Amino acid sequence: MIEQKLNISNVQKPSRLGVEVLPGCNLAQITAQQVQELKQSLWKYGVVAVREQNLTASQLLEFAKKTFGNSIAGIGYDAYDPEIDSDLQSPGVFILGNPKGATDEIGERGSWEWHQDKDCLPRTPGLDMNALYVVMLYGIEIPQGIDGQPHTTEFLDLIEAYNNLDGERQKQLEPISLYHLAPGHSKMGKDVPMKIHPVVSTHKVTGKKGLYLASSSAIPIGMENCLEKAKEFWIELLKEVLRNTPTYYHTWKKGDIVFWENSQVMHRGTAYDAIKSTRIALRLGVVDS
Ligand SMILES: [Fe+2]
Repeated sequence: MIEQKLNISNVQKPSRLGVEVLPGCNLAQITAQQVQELKQSLWKYGVVAVREQNLTASQLLEFAKKTFGNSIAGIGYDAYDPEIDSDLQSPGVFILGNPKGATDEIGERGSWEWHQDKDCLPRTPGLDMNALYVVMLYGIEIPQGIDGQPHTTEFLDLIEAYNNLDGERQKQLEPISLYHLAPGHSKMGKDVPMKIHPVVSTHKVTGKKGLYLASSSAIPIGMENCLEKAKEFWIELLKEVLRNTPTYYHTWKKGDIVFWENSQVMHRGTAYDAIKSTRIALRLGVVDS
Protein backbone atom coordinates (compact mmCIF):
# COMPACT_ATOMS: atom_id res chain seq x y z
CA MET A 1 0.00 0.00 0.00
CA ILE A 2 1.33 3.45 -0.82
CA GLU A 3 0.64 6.03 1.82
CA GLN A 4 1.77 9.61 1.76
CA LYS A 5 1.48 12.38 4.29
CA LEU A 6 -0.65 15.32 3.20
CA ASN A 7 0.00 18.97 3.96
CA ILE A 8 0.44 19.57 7.59
CA SER A 9 0.31 22.95 9.20
CA ASN A 10 0.45 24.10 12.81
CA VAL A 11 1.51 20.76 14.26
CA GLN A 12 4.59 20.56 16.42
CA LYS A 13 5.06 16.88 15.70
CA PRO A 14 3.66 14.85 12.83
CA SER A 15 0.06 13.77 13.39
CA ARG A 16 -0.98 10.25 12.44
CA LEU A 17 -4.08 11.81 10.82
CA GLY A 18 -4.26 12.73 7.14
CA VAL A 19 -2.64 10.02 5.07
CA GLU A 20 -3.11 9.90 1.31
CA VAL A 21 -4.13 6.43 0.15
CA LEU A 22 -4.83 4.62 -3.14
CA PRO A 23 -3.01 7.10 -5.43
CA GLY A 24 -4.22 6.82 -9.02
CA CYS A 25 -7.33 4.84 -8.02
CA ASN A 26 -10.71 5.75 -9.52
CA LEU A 27 -13.10 5.04 -6.65
CA ALA A 28 -15.92 4.33 -9.11
CA GLN A 29 -13.96 1.20 -10.07
CA ILE A 30 -12.50 0.22 -6.71
CA THR A 31 -11.49 -3.43 -6.38
CA ALA A 32 -12.18 -5.72 -3.40
CA GLN A 33 -8.51 -5.52 -2.43
CA GLN A 34 -8.52 -1.72 -2.58
CA VAL A 35 -11.65 -1.68 -0.40
CA GLN A 36 -9.72 -3.59 2.25
CA GLU A 37 -6.70 -1.27 1.92
CA LEU A 38 -8.86 1.81 2.28
CA LYS A 39 -10.65 0.49 5.36
CA GLN A 40 -7.49 -0.74 7.08
CA SER A 41 -5.89 2.67 6.54
CA LEU A 42 -8.95 4.47 7.82
CA TRP A 43 -9.13 2.46 11.06
CA LYS A 44 -5.38 2.95 11.51
CA TYR A 45 -5.03 6.65 10.70
CA GLY A 46 -8.50 8.05 11.54
CA VAL A 47 -8.42 10.48 8.60
CA VAL A 48 -7.36 9.51 5.07
CA ALA A 49 -7.71 11.12 1.65
CA VAL A 50 -8.00 9.82 -1.88
CA ARG A 51 -7.15 12.52 -4.41
CA GLU A 52 -7.96 13.43 -8.02
CA GLN A 53 -11.46 11.92 -8.09
CA ASN A 54 -14.13 12.74 -10.65
CA LEU A 55 -17.39 11.17 -9.50
CA THR A 56 -21.07 12.02 -9.73
CA ALA A 57 -23.15 11.94 -6.56
CA SER A 58 -24.67 8.60 -7.63
CA GLN A 59 -21.20 7.12 -8.16
CA LEU A 60 -20.17 8.34 -4.71
CA LEU A 61 -23.21 6.60 -3.22
CA GLU A 62 -22.50 3.36 -5.10
CA PHE A 63 -18.86 3.43 -4.00
CA ALA A 64 -19.92 4.01 -0.35
CA LYS A 65 -22.34 1.05 -0.44
CA LYS A 66 -19.77 -1.24 -2.04
CA THR A 67 -17.12 -0.24 0.50
CA PHE A 68 -18.98 0.17 3.77
CA GLY A 69 -22.46 -1.34 3.28
CA ASN A 70 -26.00 -0.02 3.00
CA SER A 71 -26.39 1.91 6.28
CA ILE A 72 -26.22 5.30 4.60
CA ALA A 73 -27.27 8.20 6.83
CA GLY A 74 -30.18 10.21 5.44
CA ILE A 75 -30.76 7.91 2.46
CA GLY A 76 -34.54 8.44 2.78
CA TYR A 77 -34.15 12.19 2.40
CA ASP A 78 -34.50 13.01 -1.27
CA ALA A 79 -34.95 16.70 -2.10
CA TYR A 80 -34.13 17.20 -5.77
CA ASP A 81 -33.32 20.79 -6.75
CA PRO A 82 -33.78 21.52 -10.49
CA GLU A 83 -31.48 24.58 -10.20
CA ILE A 84 -28.50 22.38 -9.30
CA ASP A 85 -26.57 20.10 -11.69
CA SER A 86 -28.19 16.65 -11.50
CA ASP A 87 -24.74 15.00 -11.34
CA LEU A 88 -24.35 16.54 -7.87
CA GLN A 89 -27.59 15.03 -6.58
CA SER A 90 -28.45 11.64 -5.15
CA PRO A 91 -30.38 10.42 -2.10
CA GLY A 92 -28.04 10.18 0.91
CA VAL A 93 -25.56 12.66 -0.60
CA PHE A 94 -25.70 16.16 0.85
CA ILE A 95 -24.42 19.21 -0.98
CA LEU A 96 -22.46 21.63 1.20
CA GLY A 97 -21.52 25.17 0.23
CA ASN A 98 -23.10 27.64 -2.16
CA PRO A 99 -23.74 25.64 -5.35
CA LYS A 100 -26.13 28.31 -6.66
CA GLY A 101 -23.46 31.04 -6.47
CA ALA A 102 -22.42 33.92 -4.22
CA THR A 103 -24.23 34.30 -0.96
CA ASP A 104 -23.70 36.16 2.27
CA GLU A 105 -25.80 33.64 4.14
CA ILE A 106 -23.83 30.58 5.11
CA GLY A 107 -25.91 27.80 6.60
CA GLU A 108 -22.91 25.80 7.81
CA ARG A 109 -21.85 27.79 10.85
CA GLY A 110 -22.88 24.95 13.19
CA SER A 111 -20.17 22.78 11.64
CA TRP A 112 -17.46 25.32 12.57
CA GLU A 113 -17.64 24.14 16.17
CA TRP A 114 -15.75 21.03 17.29
CA HIS A 115 -17.94 17.92 17.05
CA GLN A 116 -18.18 14.28 16.09
CA ASP A 117 -20.77 13.50 13.45
CA LYS A 118 -21.80 10.52 15.54
CA ASP A 119 -24.32 12.76 17.21
CA CYS A 120 -26.65 11.77 14.39
CA LEU A 121 -26.66 8.22 15.79
CA PRO A 122 -29.12 8.81 18.66
CA ARG A 123 -31.72 9.20 15.91
CA THR A 124 -31.05 5.66 14.73
CA PRO A 125 -32.86 3.07 16.85
CA GLY A 126 -30.79 0.02 17.77
CA LEU A 127 -27.47 1.49 16.64
CA ASP A 128 -24.85 1.66 19.34
CA MET A 129 -22.81 4.83 19.82
CA ASN A 130 -19.59 2.85 19.41
CA ALA A 131 -20.49 1.99 15.79
CA LEU A 132 -17.92 2.83 13.10
CA TYR A 133 -19.45 5.92 11.57
CA VAL A 134 -17.51 7.03 8.51
CA VAL A 135 -18.02 10.37 6.82
CA MET A 136 -16.65 11.20 3.41
CA LEU A 137 -16.39 14.72 2.07
CA TYR A 138 -15.70 15.25 -1.61
CA GLY A 139 -14.35 18.64 -2.67
CA ILE A 140 -15.71 19.55 -6.10
CA GLU A 141 -15.24 23.33 -6.02
CA ILE A 142 -12.79 24.62 -3.44
CA PRO A 143 -13.48 28.12 -2.13
CA GLN A 144 -11.06 30.76 -0.89
CA GLY A 145 -10.50 30.73 2.82
CA ILE A 146 -10.74 33.90 4.86
CA ASP A 147 -7.92 36.50 4.58
CA GLY A 148 -6.30 34.76 1.61
CA GLN A 149 -5.81 31.53 3.54
CA PRO A 150 -6.47 28.17 1.86
CA HIS A 151 -9.73 26.39 2.63
CA THR A 152 -9.26 23.71 5.27
CA THR A 153 -11.03 21.26 7.56
CA GLU A 154 -9.52 20.81 11.01
CA PHE A 155 -9.24 17.47 12.85
CA LEU A 156 -8.39 16.47 16.41
CA ASP A 157 -6.98 13.02 17.19
CA LEU A 158 -8.95 11.72 20.19
CA ILE A 159 -6.68 8.72 20.77
CA GLU A 160 -3.67 11.00 21.00
CA ALA A 161 -5.73 13.36 23.17
CA TYR A 162 -6.38 10.53 25.64
CA ASN A 163 -2.71 9.50 25.62
CA ASN A 164 -1.64 13.10 26.28
CA LEU A 165 -3.58 13.24 29.56
CA ASP A 166 -1.68 12.16 32.65
CA GLY A 167 -2.64 8.86 34.28
CA GLU A 168 -4.49 10.55 37.13
CA ARG A 169 -6.69 12.55 34.76
CA GLN A 170 -7.36 9.46 32.63
CA LYS A 171 -8.56 7.63 35.76
CA GLN A 172 -10.76 10.57 36.73
CA LEU A 173 -12.51 10.55 33.35
CA GLU A 174 -12.90 6.77 33.13
CA PRO A 175 -16.17 6.49 35.13
CA ILE A 176 -17.88 9.45 33.41
CA SER A 177 -20.47 8.86 30.71
CA LEU A 178 -22.29 11.36 28.54
CA TYR A 179 -25.80 11.47 27.21
CA HIS A 180 -25.76 12.22 23.51
CA LEU A 181 -28.57 14.11 21.91
CA ALA A 182 -29.40 14.29 18.23
CA PRO A 183 -28.51 17.69 16.68
CA GLY A 184 -31.03 20.43 17.29
CA HIS A 185 -31.89 19.19 20.79
CA SER A 186 -30.32 21.20 23.57
CA LYS A 187 -32.65 19.92 26.28
CA MET A 188 -33.54 16.45 27.37
CA GLY A 189 -37.11 15.23 27.18
CA LYS A 190 -39.18 12.11 26.80
CA ASP A 191 -39.44 12.59 23.04
CA VAL A 192 -35.74 13.42 22.50
CA PRO A 193 -33.65 10.58 21.05
CA MET A 194 -30.73 10.07 23.42
CA LYS A 195 -27.98 7.51 23.97
CA ILE A 196 -25.18 7.06 26.49
CA HIS A 197 -21.47 6.61 25.86
CA PRO A 198 -18.45 6.72 28.23
CA VAL A 199 -16.00 9.65 27.84
CA VAL A 200 -13.19 7.11 27.57
CA SER A 201 -13.95 4.95 24.59
CA THR A 202 -12.43 1.70 23.34
CA HIS A 203 -12.19 1.55 19.58
CA LYS A 204 -14.19 -1.25 18.03
CA VAL A 205 -11.48 -2.41 15.62
CA THR A 206 -8.12 -1.38 17.08
CA GLY A 207 -9.03 -1.73 20.78
CA LYS A 208 -7.21 1.56 21.45
CA LYS A 209 -8.51 3.90 24.10
CA GLY A 210 -9.52 7.40 23.14
CA LEU A 211 -11.78 10.21 24.26
CA TYR A 212 -15.31 10.51 23.02
CA LEU A 213 -16.63 14.03 23.47
CA ALA A 214 -19.26 14.25 20.70
CA SER A 215 -20.48 17.85 20.74
CA SER A 216 -21.32 20.63 23.16
CA SER A 217 -24.86 19.26 23.51
CA ALA A 218 -23.49 16.16 25.35
CA ILE A 219 -24.57 15.98 29.00
CA PRO A 220 -22.62 14.11 31.71
CA ILE A 221 -24.79 11.65 33.64
CA GLY A 222 -25.70 13.34 36.92
CA MET A 223 -25.83 16.83 35.39
CA GLU A 224 -29.18 16.36 33.62
CA ASN A 225 -30.80 18.98 35.81
CA CYS A 226 -28.00 21.48 35.47
CA LEU A 227 -27.41 22.05 31.80
CA GLU A 228 -25.22 25.11 32.31
CA LYS A 229 -22.86 23.10 34.46
CA ALA A 230 -22.91 20.33 31.86
CA LYS A 231 -21.92 22.75 29.12
CA GLU A 232 -19.16 24.24 31.25
CA PHE A 233 -17.80 20.74 31.98
CA TRP A 234 -17.73 19.94 28.28
CA ILE A 235 -16.13 23.23 27.22
CA GLU A 236 -13.42 23.02 29.89
CA LEU A 237 -12.62 19.42 28.94
CA LEU A 238 -12.34 20.35 25.26
CA LYS A 239 -10.07 23.32 26.11
CA GLU A 240 -7.83 21.04 28.18
CA VAL A 241 -7.61 18.58 25.29
CA LEU A 242 -6.79 21.30 22.75
CA ARG A 243 -4.04 22.69 25.00
CA ASN A 244 -2.35 19.28 25.08
CA THR A 245 -2.94 17.97 21.57
CA PRO A 246 -2.12 19.73 18.29
CA THR A 247 -4.73 19.64 15.55
CA TYR A 248 -4.35 18.64 11.91
CA TYR A 249 -5.62 20.72 8.98
CA HIS A 250 -6.56 19.18 5.67
CA THR A 251 -5.88 21.76 2.96
CA TRP A 252 -8.39 21.12 0.21
CA LYS A 253 -7.61 20.46 -3.45
CA LYS A 254 -10.27 19.94 -6.09
CA GLY A 255 -11.05 16.22 -6.40
CA ASP A 256 -10.05 15.28 -2.85
CA ILE A 257 -12.26 12.85 -0.97
CA VAL A 258 -11.44 12.98 2.73
CA PHE A 259 -12.68 10.13 4.92
CA TRP A 260 -12.84 10.29 8.69
CA GLU A 261 -13.92 7.77 11.24
CA ASN A 262 -15.88 9.46 13.98
CA SER A 263 -14.87 7.05 16.75
CA GLN A 264 -11.35 8.49 16.65
CA VAL A 265 -11.54 12.12 15.62
CA MET A 266 -13.40 15.35 16.16
CA HIS A 267 -13.51 17.91 13.39
CA ARG A 268 -14.70 21.33 12.47
CA GLY A 269 -15.19 23.17 9.22
CA THR A 270 -13.56 26.53 8.69
CA ALA A 271 -15.04 29.74 7.32
CA TYR A 272 -14.68 30.57 3.63
CA ASP A 273 -15.41 33.53 1.40
CA ALA A 274 -18.86 32.66 0.02
CA ILE A 275 -19.26 35.98 -1.80
CA LYS A 276 -16.03 35.83 -3.81
CA SER A 277 -15.89 32.07 -4.34
CA THR A 278 -17.93 28.91 -4.71
CA ARG A 279 -17.81 25.90 -2.47
CA ILE A 280 -19.32 22.65 -3.65
CA ALA A 281 -18.66 19.62 -1.49
CA LEU A 282 -20.59 16.36 -1.38
CA ARG A 283 -20.98 14.75 2.01
CA LEU A 284 -22.02 11.20 2.75
CA GLY A 285 -22.16 9.38 6.09
CA VAL A 286 -22.29 5.61 6.48
CA VAL A 287 -22.10 3.14 9.35
CA ASP A 288 -19.64 0.42 8.41
CA SER A 289 -21.21 -2.99 8.40
FE1 LIG B 1 -19.41 17.41 10.89
